[in-house]
Amino acid sequence: MSELTWELKKLNDLERKTEELSSQIKAVTKDDRYTEIDDDLIKLQVKNNKLKHRLSLIRESIAKEAKSDAMEVTESISITEHLENVFARAIALAFPEYGNTPVIIAPVNSASAKYGDYQCNNAMGLAKKMKEMGLNRTPREIANELQKSCPLSPIINKMEVGGAGFVNVFLSKDYAAQALKNILRNGIKPPRVLKKRVLVDFSSPNIAKQMHVGHLRSTIIGESICRLLEFLKHDVIRINHLGDWGTQFGMLIAHLEERFPDFLNKSPPIGDLQHFYKESKKRFDTDEEFKKRAYNRVVSLQSGEPNSRKAWQLICDVSRKEFQAIYNRLDVTVKERGESFYQSHMLSVVDLLRKKKMLEQDEGRQIMWSDEDRSGVPLTIVKSDGGFTYDTSDMAAIRHRIEEEHCTWIIYVVDSGQSTHFNTIFKAAERCCILNPTVHRVQHVQFGVVLGEDGKKFKTRSGDTVKLSDLLNEGMKRSLEQLCSRGREKILTAQELIKAQEAVAYGCIKYSDLCHNRISDYVFSFDKMLDDRGNTAVYLLYTYTRIRSITRNLSDDFCNLEKILDTVEIVLNHEKEWKLAKTLLKMHDILVKCSKDLFLHFLCEFCYEVCTVFTEFYDSCYCIKKNKDGEIVEINRSRILMCEATAAVLRQCFHILGLKPVSKL
Ligand code: ARG
Repeated sequence: MSELTWELKKLNDLERKTEELSSQIKAVTKDDRYTEIDDDLIKLQVKNNKLKHRLSLIRESIAKEAKSDAMEVTESISITEHLENVFARAIALAFPEYGNTPVIIAPVNSASAKYGDYQCNNAMGLAKKMKEMGLNRTPREIANELQKSCPLSPIINKMEVGGAGFVNVFLSKDYAAQALKNILRNGIKPPRVLKKRVLVDFSSPNIAKQMHVGHLRSTIIGESICRLLEFLKHDVIRINHLGDWGTQFGMLIAHLEERFPDFLNKSPPIGDLQHFYKESKKRFDTDEEFKKRAYNRVVSLQSGEPNSRKAWQLICDVSRKEFQAIYNRLDVTVKERGESFYQSHMLSVVDLLRKKKMLEQDEGRQIMWSDEDRSGVPLTIVKSDGGFTYDTSDMAAIRHRIEEEHCTWIIYVVDSGQSTHFNTIFKAAERCCILNPTVHRVQHVQFGVVLGEDGKKFKTRSGDTVKLSDLLNEGMKRSLEQLCSRGREKILTAQELIKAQEAVAYGCIKYSDLCHNRISDYVFSFDKMLDDRGNTAVYLLYTYTRIRSITRNLSDDFCNLEKILDTVEIVLNHEKEWKLAKTLLKMHDILVKCSKDLFLHFLCEFCYEVCTVFTEFYDSCYCIKKNKDGEIVEINRSRILMCEATAAVLRQCFHILGLKPVSKL
């Protein structure tokens, strides 16, 4: 191929010269002063035309050869990526000097399906670039050239040049039918991506403090990111960077000793840790003696003194239980590796920074600038009392993640309020050569705040921060009310009802978070999220249940999937069948798109599209015909397969979004 490309480059140069020559000839022959046309000129013109003809013949045969080198299709391709490869080859072949042009592929809006399913939009840009080089080619000419130069691909049925110079691509129905069958046979296989070792730092609440809605967002978004990256076969490490270290523990330990002197032998009954925290803070602020003792305990804790360690452990356990209860309810898995884990790493990172002469004295503190020019805010690496800070633990953590965990992608799912902190950490890590930006991708996946329906920060009616367990309980209550308002408690068994209740409650809380662009703030409203119309979890879950119920009542010989798969072809003749098939096959495109910048709302929008397109399909294409006595008279097995494929696609997306599909709702 590269030889061909080189050959073509020569030819193209030749063509450019030929064209220059012929325009010169034209100019000369038009000029009145040369009425007597020179013999030589005519000869030249003839020669030139011959050359041009030969050139086009050679180009055609090269294109033919390249075309016979057809593109392979694996089971699970992203159609956009595949077409990008197709057109990259076409550009390299037709216009080798522009071989590096990034390919632009866009799906065609389904309302304009007659113009194709995808289009390549490169011709306009190429025409502009050529013009700058003094070559006049219209976008349509270029588009024609591109179309001719595309290698064969089994996913393309035909191509047409249209409009201002688009190459419109029509997908092949045979390919689509086959791809859908593959989904049903083998499940949904992930598109191939470059495998990475990724660490996702998410949830990360603080011991002895309330886990608030910001942590809820981090938990929900982080869990889905992990599921997405795991599905794409990355090697994912899920880390809960718990705030379990720092000076506040001195005061908590001192207070524990005072309130429960026999804590070493008997587990202290701290029911309400927040209250306990407030009490100790009060003691700390009012009692000098206590304050001294608290400072003392920080030192003994950090030096590993057993009693202080034990006290700390007990306090952490109380919080840990509360957090775990939330994780269990939301089906979240995350490995605890709190700030305390990095104690020894903090010592060594401070050493490293000192050796590299990156630390500076500043009123007793030791600070580090992330930029040589001292712009921005410096990190506080060692406090004036010798203690470490949030900055120190994040420097130690990033080093550990890169040097010991060997991660090449590190993701921090933390609210937007901390973006300065993370940018500074990333820059500082680069400055001291822990991080190499050409190898390591570090990313602050930020998100906006949760607002109440009044548009202000989310609070309870009395103005307190909302306790997460209360929030989940409220969701459960509302979801049950909704199910009962539809009389579901009479139809479902007790077990089915509770499954449905949980699926709706937790599903809608997660989905209403994920379905917005995470960067923006979002309004928390049970009424909106429990709406069964529009882009909501409830609508999606209902649609899924409806699809399942279509086949549930069929007897085995009507819908033994394996049998049908071997004997029935998927037919995509009806406009709505074809539309549904094309929609389902966009899944891989969407997953790749979501993983690029870690935005999950694209996946939510896709689910919503699948559900609406399925509804259109189901409204106009019968799957099962019944007579007036309700007996089945005809089954369209191809369409049954389409229903099953839709359910499979939704199930996979639901899994990533943390929705639990239920077959009865
Ligand atoms: N515990 C912190 C908080 O509640 C979040 C920690 C995020 N992760 C990190 N590596 N800094 O704000």
